Amino acid sequence: MKENLKKKAGLTETFLLNELKNCSTSDSLREIMQYAVLNGGKRLRPVLLLSVYELFDSNIEKAVPYAAALEMIHSYSLVHDDLPSMDNDDLRRGKPTCHKQFSEFGAILAGDALLNLSFETMLKYAKEFPLERALSAMACIGEASGAKGMCAGQMSDMEQSVSDFESLCKMYRGKTGALLKAALVSGGILGGADSDTVRLLEQFADKIGLIFQIKDDVLDVTADEKTLGKPVFSDEKNQKITFVSQYGITQCEQLIDTYKNEALEMLDSLEQTIGKNGSADFLRKLTVYMAERNY
Ligand code: IPE
Ligand code: IPE
Ligand code: MG
Ligand code: MG
Ligand code: MG
Repeated sequence: MKENLKKKAGLTETFLLNELKNCSTSDSLREIMQYAVLNGGKRLRPVLLLSVYELFDSNIEKAVPYAAALEMIHSYSLVHDDLPSMDNDDLRRGKPTCHKQFSEFGAILAGDALLNLSFETMLKYAKEFPLERALSAMACIGEASGAKGMCAGQMSDMEQSVSDFESLCKMYRGKTGALLKAALVSGGILGGADSDTVRLLEQFADKIGLIFQIKDDVLDVTADEKTLGKPVFSDEKNQKITFVSQYGITQCEQLIDTYKNEALEMLDSLEQTIGKNGSADFLRKLTVYMAERNY
């Protein structure tokens, strides 16, 4: 598991390093973009994308540009999430946040530029795939990152206007679930998944999104800053309505466990649909890891 994870994260890391070398005509903007991305993130979204792609094609190198492009969007979302007008946090991935290290305008512009670089990258490497697949993967990632996905979820998080179970789930499906779903589904699309398989991937991703953000909320109050690489009690500081604030840690852990078991069952169906090519064993391990992670 560890080796496999390391390999996929490593391929992404190397690609990002190269892609960010000449990413801007402004030296200072480039420096902030590099700082925002090349800073020890877990690279889970790239790993998820590559793990699904691998069910269809063992040559995972081909999909690395898309995995890295998704990480650029995720990293930008963290830079903006930490801004004073949003969560106002000082630490990210174990280092001062971009606006602390550089400037607020620099953090905003680096985020904007990373979002664009992501799509430039996907376009540049589109010819490696049948065009229909590349376009469909880009559409999936574009929608998930924008006003129907992550941005909508972040809007709801900032407005703090919902507190019931269903609305909280909707907010989490947006702010965190959307990019995780895009990772899993676009990995499938690039690999040539049929519509039944895409539907199963979406259902699986739905559980993964909830597991991931509820765990993030739990870690916000149970982990320590050094392990987490970001401030603890950030949600409390901002008086955020979260699963933890509404239901408490014990119930959150129970929910995570329930969703984990449901997600694992879905992987059985996924395996049957894909047939002999794909073993979902690594996705099983990743599911358990995401539910039980401590950072
Ligand atoms: C943190 O995501 C933000 C959320 C969506 C909960 P990760 O926990 O994947 O952060 P990195 O990429 O490893 O820093
Ligand atoms: C943010 O959720 C999700 C994003 C879209 C970045 P959080 O605000 O809980 O993420 P952390 O805890 O700061 O990483
Ligand atoms: Mg936030
Ligand atoms: Mg935050
Ligand atoms: Mg959090």
